[in-house]
Amino acid sequence: MSIKTEEISSLIKKQLANYQNQVSVEETGTVTYVGDGVARADGLENAMAGELLEFSNGVYGMAQNLESNDVGIVILGDFSGIREGDTVKRTGRIMEVPVGDELLGRVVDPLGRPLDGLGEIKTTKTRPIERKAPGVMERKSVSEPLQTGIKVIDALVPIGRGQRELIIGDRKTGKTAIALDTIINQKDQDVICIYVAIGQKESTVKASVETLRRYGALDYTIVVSASASNPAPMLYIAPYAGAAMGEEFMFGGKDVLIVYDDLSKQADAYRELSLILRRPPGREAYPGDIFYTHSRLLERAARLSDDLGGGSMTALPIIQTQAGDVSAYIPTNVISITDGQIFLDSDEFYSGQRPAIDAGTSVSRVGGDAQVKAMKKVAGTLRLDIASYNELASFAQFGSDLDEATQARLNRGQRTMEVLKQGLHEPQTVSQQVVTLFALSKGFIDKIALDDVQRYESELAAFMHANHQDLYDSIEKTGKLPEGDALLNAVAEFSKSFQSSDDQKKAAAK
Ligand SMILES: Nc1ncnc2c1ncn2[C@@H]1O[C@H](COP(=O)(O)OP(=O)(O)OP(=O)(O)O)[C@@H](O)[C@H]1O
Ligand SMILES: [Mg+2]
Repeated sequence: MSIKTEEISSLIKKQLANYQNQVSVEETGTVTYVGDGVARADGLENAMAGELLEFSNGVYGMAQNLESNDVGIVILGDFSGIREGDTVKRTGRIMEVPVGDELLGRVVDPLGRPLDGLGEIKTTKTRPIERKAPGVMERKSVSEPLQTGIKVIDALVPIGRGQRELIIGDRKTGKTAIALDTIINQKDQDVICIYVAIGQKESTVKASVETLRRYGALDYTIVVSASASNPAPMLYIAPYAGAAMGEEFMFGGKDVLIVYDDLSKQADAYRELSLILRRPPGREAYPGDIFYTHSRLLERAARLSDDLGGGSMTALPIIQTQAGDVSAYIPTNVISITDGQIFLDSDEFYSGQRPAIDAGTSVSRVGGDAQVKAMKKVAGTLRLDIASYNELASFAQFGSDLDEATQARLNRGQRTMEVLKQGLHEPQTVSQQVVTLFALSKGFIDKIALDDVQRYESELAAFMHANHQDLYDSIEKTGKLPEGDALLNAVAEFSKSFQSSDDQKKAAAK
């Protein structure tokens, strides 16, 4: 048998002409380095920033540093099975999380996978975890209140829907408690809540979930948790994932409250993975874009224009300080991005003044427009009263003789501080808060012994419920103080009947 060379060469030529490059080199790369939670790969020329990548063992990663010859990848999951030389594939998708009603009442990780052992979550929709924040024209101004149910906040640092209010303080000063109580107070208010727990102990997260469940708040809440034992990338993406879940509701016209507890730990996780990715460290060894990391997240909180459905997302980021130092890098950054801060003071906390809110340094820059009118009236002088009280209190310690006016101011100040105390998980309605502060501002509480103030408050509320529910209802409905003297008379009537503890003891002795 003879072989014709021309035939063979023409066959090869034909094959070559029809040859198509099946394995596209840009779509798969090779891992060149693996470290704690991060990897580098070359060969992924077309990868997009934030693109989801798949390693050969099925673990996902997210493209971070796009350089000319390689890509930095944060690994979302167990990185112990990934080796140098493994292949890694593009998916063509930007990192997304499942979203929708199905997530309500559930505890999930930042990828939307259940952590509560209650089985699969059958969502049908996803959203990218990073999204450009709504622009100026897509927003309207904040004008509706978001009631926290905590007197001192609703009175002094009112929060509006769509606002970003920072909760900042040292460790164990009641930061989480304020956030959880605010979520609990949204019951029957048609507000969807998202609690993002970042870098907390699993037992702490579990306790928070149980608290929410006990107060019936879990039904309208999604808990996203990346606990302290998760790799840094999970902690880093957790708030973005939570924001994406919130946006689904906001763009559906709903009001959303999202808590990031806390962004200090997220910043630390980001610093960790940036250092492993060998990015140049900046101030306090945080990478240069740490400010942008927080600003682009918090900008996603918004009150949307009517054209876009009028939904809103209110953000309560939490930051932990060291020894009350708000001038450290991360605290100053986040203070400058938010619309105000609730500053918690550890001295006040340990002296029993809880919630330990420092009235002097806590502000809300937009919430005033959203505050209920009746509250604005009764809380008008509160801040000044507290400031002048604090000033006087330090003098009074020396036990010098005080003139009558000074004594009266001290007296009022002490009672104000007493009225602003509030227990855990005891949110109050607007009407109850308003009537208490009304009694304070009209001087009714000045005559009550300090130890009796809290009992006065709760008995007043019971009295109002029993005899003047109409006044409570009218405050709730109109947001204004009732016309005429009805409220004044009601409080006067109660105050006359109020028994001091001394009287009670005398009565009991008879
Ligand atoms: N208003 C309050 N009344 C009584 N106890 C409170 C109040 N607020 C918080 N606590 C208690 O103080 C402790 C610390 O509160 P919390 O966990 O909210 O603080 P934190 O600042 O979030 O702490 P961490 O730094 O650990 O995150 C908890 O045991 C909580 O029950
Ligand atoms: Mg906490």
